[in-house]
Amino acid sequence: MIFTLQQSGLQDQFAAGTTVDALVGAKKLDRARLAAMADYWVAAGLLDRSADGVLTLTDLARAYEEARPWYEMMVGGYGQTFLALGDHLAEGTGPAPRRGGYVGSGSCGISMHDSLPLLRKLLAEDGRDYRRLVDLGCGSGVYLTELCADYPQMTAVGIEPDADGAAAARAWVAGQPTADRVTIEQVDAVRWIENTEDKPDLAVYAFVIHEVLGQEGEEGVRRMLTKLFGESPELTLAVIDIDLKSADRAAMSQPLAQAYYNAYLLMHPFTSQRLESRQWWEKLFTECGLRIDAYDTTDPAMDSTGFCVGWVLRKADA
Ligand SMILES: C[S@@+](CC[C@H](N)C(=O)[O-])C[C@H]1O[C@@H](n2cnc3c(N)ncnc32)[C@H](O)[C@@H]1O
Repeated sequence: MIFTLQQSGLQDQFAAGTTVDALVGAKKLDRARLAAMADYWVAAGLLDRSADGVLTLTDLARAYEEARPWYEMMVGGYGQTFLALGDHLAEGTGPAPRRGGYVGSGSCGISMHDSLPLLRKLLAEDGRDYRRLVDLGCGSGVYLTELCADYPQMTAVGIEPDADGAAAARAWVAGQPTADRVTIEQVDAVRWIENTEDKPDLAVYAFVIHEVLGQEGEEGVRRMLTKLFGESPELTLAVIDIDLKSADRAAMSQPLAQAYYNAYLLMHPFTSQRLESRQWWEKLFTECGLRIDAYDTTDPAMDSTGFCVGWVLRKADA
């Protein structure tokens, strides 16, 4: 219901104050359904209703608005996944469904708070200038426009296989001041790396290398990294991902782990994704001939679990 309030666009109307009648007239909504929704939202404390039927947003609904991208990803993207968990426990049942567009756009909204500041910190400490960015699995494209704003000479390409995700990225980029420096390609990262003649100096995998690991296996990730650095030996690769600690009781007892990560970690193996620990990834990077030039976690003021980690990687013999 919270996700529906936010995603339907009705929240903005309620912020200004409106009635069921006015919304039915202006937006051609089903009266009985909207009336039932309004009753639900009022009873749940998300809307107030005045004596003459004017509906307005409550402080509680405004507080939930701050967490909008978490609802977008976990309810819009993975809501149907959680409902299908029981049907996908048996061996050979295939992946549970998810809505890729909401996964990508919700994830990018969360990233504005945690992973983008981490990426900026890692790159700033490194101090290099970059001219050509590829964001592999760009979701709704916020890294592309944010990094282009940081690096005035930069042009960028976003790689996103999901049709809704790619459409969301194109729509987002088109409205940003850096629009003329960014393009979006609807293709998966492995296929793009195998076929491109592009020579980026900065590549980003933000919450995507574990998708490739789930889809292509460890050998697939090794082949992809080898090809990427084979074509661009001077490349800087920034990887942001999750340090898998789902079996660590102490780590999982932290409030954000209870409220968010517990469910987040759970749905990955159900959707062809494979999370691994920091140590696991560092061993793989080293075995692929890469050097870890920087490592950090998110700002503890935003996320004190230390689950979200980032690396700056380069070819060891470059
Ligand atoms: C969790 S979202 C991350 C979005 C964004 N990079 C961020 O950090 O917020 C994962 C994205 O990877 C995309 N994806 C899944 N498999 C992929 C693949 N093989 N190659 C490229 N992107 C992929 C999904 O469609 C989704 O948009």
